Amino acid sequence: MNILVLGSGGREHTFAYKIVQSPLCDNLFVAPGNAGTAAIATNIPISVTDFDAVRDLVLKENIEMVVVGPEDPLVQGISDYFAEDTQLKNIVVIGPSKEGAQLEGSKEYAKEFLFRHHIPTAAYQSFTAATVEDGKQFLETLNPPYVLKADGLAAGKGVLILQDIKEAKTELENMLTNKKFGAASEKVVIEEFLDGIELSVFVLTDGKNYLTLPTAKDYKRIGEGDTGLNTGGMGAISPVPFADKAFMNKIEEQIIKPTVDGLVKENIDYKGFIFIGLIKVGNDPKVIEYNVRMGDPETEAVLPRIQNDLVQLFRHVGDQSLDSVDLELDDRSATTVMTVSGGYPESYEKGKEITGIDTISDSIVFHAGTKLEGDTVVTNGGRVIAITSFDEDFRQALKKSYQNIEKLHFDKMYYRKDLGFDLA
Ligand code: AMP
Ligand code: GLY
Repeated sequence: MNILVLGSGGREHTFAYKIVQSPLCDNLFVAPGNAGTAAIATNIPISVTDFDAVRDLVLKENIEMVVVGPEDPLVQGISDYFAEDTQLKNIVVIGPSKEGAQLEGSKEYAKEFLFRHHIPTAAYQSFTAATVEDGKQFLETLNPPYVLKADGLAAGKGVLILQDIKEAKTELENMLTNKKFGAASEKVVIEEFLDGIELSVFVLTDGKNYLTLPTAKDYKRIGEGDTGLNTGGMGAISPVPFADKAFMNKIEEQIIKPTVDGLVKENIDYKGFIFIGLIKVGNDPKVIEYNVRMGDPETEAVLPRIQNDLVQLFRHVGDQSLDSVDLELDDRSATTVMTVSGGYPESYEKGKEITGIDTISDSIVFHAGTKLEGDTVVTNGGRVIAITSFDEDFRQALKKSYQNIEKLHFDKMYYRKDLGFDLA
């Protein structure tokens, strides 16, 4: 069959890498894609949120399956757009309905869902411009640090964690009254701070059944020792060593099952990935967020460990028969190190020539922000290239990724050299 992947990052290159390995895939299209996807599929230069252009492409190329990478098209309702169109309704879309995507699109929606289904998460209250004074009073009742979250999508920047109550009140005012994050912060969720180590859990669901995919640890901050600004993610390690069987059982019983059951009970159409951000508080998992897609760069470490035919898995999602599948995993550790443009996550330059890609061996190269200029691969984003390696132990795997990164060059290339520093 012909398949379309929507998106242009490392996550989408990884989807493409797995999909082209499937004998079920005839032709793969990626829109808009990057230089990595161009080497294994056909890139189509359309926007992931231009649904009419996606429709034209799907009909023209006889596409039967659409895998949605990023959250924007999901939150804007691409699954419903397909379901409501007589010519598109039988196409398998990997990604939830607009209602389901609210789990990521609105922090308040997610918190209400979590509380309705008794899933462990931080205590919270939400406020608008009309109730900003109540919000300040609520802050007075909490201990620092204070967690303020813009309700809507804010490109990963909408969460502020502040030590000082005065600053927290000022920022609350900035978000609600001065719309610091635009429409996304017309509502703000103030949350209890959870103290512990984070991990990401990934679930693939057909809306009835689910598979728990490998866990991963993401490194979000730009600086070593988890310092500096938040990024999209500087690297990932899978599996997470502290997520042992007993802890995973808790996650399954207290979080994953009630989440999928909650979606079923509420009649929310959900065929796709659920990415659950968790904090281990003491010995217990608590949800900090839902995302309705795979993580990036977690995908680059998680998907290569899955040995099943990905297209076959997606077919089972399409016809709600995931219960007939056993997940087959590579038991080794996979580690992904992301190289980024100097200056990222603030301003950075694009168009820098990347060399050394062909000299990398014993690791997998996933392109993120790259594009082709003639035959030359150049940088085209903040996160540029991810290097994934396998070994029995995550430290050995990391060593391979770091050795290979030495062979890669572009002007002002940066990466974190301390991934795994927080793991025993
Ligand atoms: P989010 O966008 O919800 O993933 O939040 C961004 C980051 O803020 C998370 O990855 C956590 O590191 C941190 N964070 C969010 N909520 C909390 C919380 N309630 N307690 C502690 N840290 C949090
Ligand atoms: N790496 C975090 C995310 O994809 O949201």
